[in-house]
Amino acid sequence: MPSATAPSDSGRPDSPSSGSWWRRAAIYQLYVRSFADGNGDGIGDLAGARAHLAHLAALGIDAIWFNPWYPSPMADAGYDISDYRSIEPVFGTLADADALIAEAHGLGIKIIIDVVPNHSSDQHPWFAAALAAGPDSVERSRFWFRPGRGINGSLPPNNWQSIFGGPAWTRVTEADGSPGEWYLHLFAPEQPDYNWGSPDVRREFEDVLRFWFSRGVDGIRIDSAALLSKDAALPDVSGSEPPGPAHPYTDRDDVHSIYQAWRAIADEYSADNYGERMLIGEVWLPDAARLTRYVGPGELHTVFNFPYLDCPWDADALRRVIDETLALAAAPATWVLSNHDVDRVVSRYGRPDTAFSLDRRPYFHSLPVDLALGTRRARAAALLTMALPGSVYVYQGEELGLWEVQDIPDELRQDPIWARTLGADPGRDGCRVPLPWSGTEPPFSFSPAGAAAEPWLPQPKEWRDLTVAAESAHADSMLSLYREALRIRRSDPAFAGTPLTWRQSPEDVLAFDRDAGGGQDTRLPDTGGPGTTLRCVANLSSVPVSLPENASVLLTSGPLDGGLLPPDTTAWLRIG
Ligand code: GLC
Ligand code: CA
Repeated sequence: MPSATAPSDSGRPDSPSSGSWWRRAAIYQLYVRSFADGNGDGIGDLAGARAHLAHLAALGIDAIWFNPWYPSPMADAGYDISDYRSIEPVFGTLADADALIAEAHGLGIKIIIDVVPNHSSDQHPWFAAALAAGPDSVERSRFWFRPGRGINGSLPPNNWQSIFGGPAWTRVTEADGSPGEWYLHLFAPEQPDYNWGSPDVRREFEDVLRFWFSRGVDGIRIDSAALLSKDAALPDVSGSEPPGPAHPYTDRDDVHSIYQAWRAIADEYSADNYGERMLIGEVWLPDAARLTRYVGPGELHTVFNFPYLDCPWDADALRRVIDETLALAAAPATWVLSNHDVDRVVSRYGRPDTAFSLDRRPYFHSLPVDLALGTRRARAAALLTMALPGSVYVYQGEELGLWEVQDIPDELRQDPIWARTLGADPGRDGCRVPLPWSGTEPPFSFSPAGAAAEPWLPQPKEWRDLTVAAESAHADSMLSLYREALRIRRSDPAFAGTPLTWRQSPEDVLAFDRDAGGGQDTRLPDTGGPGTTLRCVANLSSVPVSLPENASVLLTSGPLDGGLLPPDTTAWLRIG
């Protein structure tokens, strides 16, 4: 165990050491399998992450969210957890995690981990015990076991479908060898759903939270947070029920009591030397009013902003999502352009249809991609996103402008979505390809020199131009843009205020001001007054536009053209 000394912010004078650090943090999503491989087996690990913490500090982020790092059979890349209180041996040890937390804290970086409470792994001791104990046992009551329908129970208990394709039920063989009950899995069969009506499940997860908070973890990302509560009658779905109280497993009202209990635990730990603990929910809900029920002083601190992620590169649509997000006054906004489940932003914005939706990945992959256009827009989107009030998430590789790798050979694909849809949906491997660090050939120093194994997914050879080393050498690279934008965002008083004021602008141009005054953020001085307003102007039209006369340019996502802001370009300006 690390000793409970106060984390030091040395070297990061402007780092949020206490108070509501999560309100406007820049959070780097670190997908550990693909970040950096310390031991040469072709799979990223904690040693690799530790070796590159200085890179993240230099990038200017405030916190890291780690995708699941626990022991896992990896049926869903770690979202099938067999032990919630340890580290996957391929990634390292608990001692490595403790050291990583301490080292990150030493750099002023907070650590957020992923907790997966909706489902387990079929290799978890509880599931093994449930199989062994048989029907009507306490062990089975922690999951959803039911007899089948039809002759000899040979049909699933209801018509629910797995989110990964195929039925949401799998039949077990009982200890005596007979065909037995079925168990529910909203995702892969290797991910049995917990029954949150079981007091054992509630106690267990509250204890898991305490385990990690007491090791100094600063935040928890809650996986599939709207799915935990199920209608115990397990009725068929028609497919037309909206999420909410009438839906048998999405966004049911009693899910909130779980998070209210978790918030009390987070608040309890916030009084220790490590400072405020935060909870962020992965909640995909179309209805803003339902979404807002998850956040507030008694529940989650924030939720991910998926409507923003899904939004097309279109000025009116973006403005609508921004306004709707900011209207959810119960919690600070979060801004997310990409994550490990969706197509990379450079590819999305380079397609003729720039929206995204998890349900329509095959369609989006069928469209042509203009990478130069997508990259220009991704740069403009980065500055737009980082100018918005709230916290911002950066998914690893986004800062390098990596694209979605759509041509992974079928036999190398790992995502269960690919197999369970029989190849109809290519799945998420294309955004999970290991990072290029330096050099001119794969593995681009993802693995150490002389490593025996190749990276677990192949890297495009063209990424030689997108390595951290190559981009560090160029002032006009995506990495240089992210570094500079994050530096200004964390040090300029204009970003401390919470409000945003829209300004008049030509058609298909977004323009808004941020001011130092009036914010709730105590991180930066309220130095309001003349010369402290930041204006963000994003040109999504097809013609260059002029910039205000009383403005000086702080940063642009691309070169100006004779003083004009070209299409698909964003500028940060100092007004007055
Ligand atoms: C979440 C994760 C995703 C995972 C799923 C099941 O949506 O982000 O990667 O496959 O939950 O745990
Ligand atoms: Ca490794």
